[in-house]
Amino acid sequence: MNLEAGQTLGEFIIENQKDFKYSSGELSRLISSIKLATKVVNHKVNQAGLVDILGKFGSENIQGEEQQKLDVFANEAFIKTLSQREVVCGIASEENDDFIQITNTVNSHLSKYVVLIDPLDGSSNIDVNVSVGTIFSIYRRVTPEGTPVQIEDFLQKGNQQVAAGYVIYGSSTMLIYTTGNGVNGFTLNPSIGTFYLSHPNMRIPEDGNIYSINEGNYAHFPQGVKDYLKYCQKVEEDRPYTSRYIGSLCADFHRNMLKGGIYIYPSGSKSPNGKLRLLYECNPMAYIAEQAGGKATDGFQRIMDIQPTELHQRVPFFCGSKNMVEKAEELMANS
Ligand code: AHG
Ligand code: MN
Ligand code: MN
Repeated sequence: MNLEAGQTLGEFIIENQKDFKYSSGELSRLISSIKLATKVVNHKVNQAGLVDILGKFGSENIQGEEQQKLDVFANEAFIKTLSQREVVCGIASEENDDFIQITNTVNSHLSKYVVLIDPLDGSSNIDVNVSVGTIFSIYRRVTPEGTPVQIEDFLQKGNQQVAAGYVIYGSSTMLIYTTGNGVNGFTLNPSIGTFYLSHPNMRIPEDGNIYSINEGNYAHFPQGVKDYLKYCQKVEEDRPYTSRYIGSLCADFHRNMLKGGIYIYPSGSKSPNGKLRLLYECNPMAYIAEQAGGKATDGFQRIMDIQPTELHQRVPFFCGSKNMVEKAEELMANS
């Protein structure tokens, strides 16, 4: 399929603006700004190895994780791009201790939207030329417009999301997002810097063969997860399952979206709430999964119904093909 005559992301955003509940063009401008920031990050990711962008930055984020140079670059690229365009009134990032109130222009505090972002997902894969990504989530603020944003604008349940998406900087760069009317995927033509609609109305298969989990943590898994893995691996029943784990949520999730599968990052004795962050990773992926016909839970309850209590909160995450997630939930409940 030759996409060059096809619809661009810019055209798609304009055409679909009428579907938004409170259409004023503001959300369209915000998504366009995200599109721009992803191109900036994509450019840098593709230079990795050629310019001095690989390796550690020499600091830790609020969660005690060592920041890589690309983590810091991507974080700044998104914050700068979004804050200079009067498209958001607040940003919370995995890489920042606290949320940011955007007050740098006369009108920026008039914006209705806040963005929550994992600017560079899959940091451990940066230096080895394996796909990394970005994950974003957009909400309408709940405090009055025209005033500085507050913590409650960010601590909203996932079911209040207005839009969410992820980008994969991989063998090709893709941006996938939803505004609540299904999920669409766009592929970047790097030579002209344009995203084209390549994956309209994405649907995750109801069943799949792939499970994605870091089995190195097996000894620490809850019994229900061990039981689920045993179920997948049962030789005598000739089960069809196979395992794929990249270690970049964006890439593992994307593969499962296309082929069917389940991604699990459970609680463990070392990390009682798992590793993934509710606001920056789990809620946006859950919204996309559900919009594509899939499911996302913490093993027991719907991810998007969890009331967040803190910005950097972690939750166990079971996400992907509906029937696979339901089987895992059944074994979690029985254990
Ligand atoms: P981040 O790079 O934003 O910190 O996210 C890493 C996440 C996720 O992308 C990935 O699936 C998971 O951490 C991998 O964790 P393990 O190395 O513990 O398997
Ligand atoms: Mn991440
Ligand atoms: Mn990250």
